[in-house]
Amino acid sequence: MSAPANPGAPSQGRRIRRVGNWDILPAVLGGALANAVADPRRLRRQLAKRMWIELKRFAASRVTNIDVASIAGIDQVRVEGTVIRRSPLVLCALAALLEPRTIFEFGTYHGDTTWLLARNAPTARVYTLDFAGLDAVQGAQLEVTDADEYFREWDRGARFRGTPEAERITQLVGDSAAFDFSPYRGSIDLVYIDASHSYSYVRADTEAALAMLSPRGAIVWDDYTHYAGIFAYLNELARSLERPIIHLLDTRLAVYSRRPLTNRH
Ligand SMILES: C[S@@+](CC[C@H](N)C(=O)[O-])C[C@H]1O[C@@H](n2cnc3c(N)ncnc32)[C@H](O)[C@@H]1O
Repeated sequence: MSAPANPGAPSQGRRIRRVGNWDILPAVLGGALANAVADPRRLRRQLAKRMWIELKRFAASRVTNIDVASIAGIDQVRVEGTVIRRSPLVLCALAALLEPRTIFEFGTYHGDTTWLLARNAPTARVYTLDFAGLDAVQGAQLEVTDADEYFREWDRGARFRGTPEAERITQLVGDSAAFDFSPYRGSIDLVYIDASHSYSYVRADTEAALAMLSPRGAIVWDDYTHYAGIFAYLNELARSLERPIIHLLDTRLAVYSRRPLTNRH
């Protein structure tokens, strides 16, 4: 049997229809308008919130946006974890890449990320700090921002209890603004800041983190894109550091690393 003269040509009776952005614009705008009128809450939660986040990313004065893919070697890393929360997965990829001997987490909550970090950095000792209990939250020294759901019941660290990783996890209690960090001075390779998200707490936690950081250490902040206080503080802080603070696009994370992470930095 002989081959058709032009294998890429449309078969008889079928016509190519080319669709570009201009062609779909009326349907997109019409749909947006209809959905906004029908469900204004969805407009706020799905569209306005995301546009605000993108605007902040674009407008950031000192924190540099980079793609996760531009971190040297991250494509070689494999991590274990659920896809539901992307930022902890990227955090764990960083941990696997940087091979920290010590990790310090601000904000244990159930211990999901504590366990993930211990699992994906299999030789690290992981310290994780949270309030001692609900009473301690009432007496917090600065402005606590977390939603009520975090303070309805108290089972900090439940996720890692009884797991093999728990042997390498040390649970610490205290208000991060009053905690004595001096035993950890200069010795932590990876700090993860995810406790209260107010400007004042993030500043206090970051100052403690910088003092704890080892010469090869890195700090990762969660929720840089989602809390005004973190966004404002990190864009101010970046001015005074000798290395950049970077935001990893498509995540909530910002990172400061004493070792260069990308070829560019
Ligand atoms: C967002 S949750 C942490 C989530 C956890 N890092 C994870 O990824 O699963 C915040 C936690 O920080 C704790 N926290 C908030 N402010 C704190 C403070 N000043 N000192 C210690 N812990 C604090 C809260 O009790 C809460 O458990």
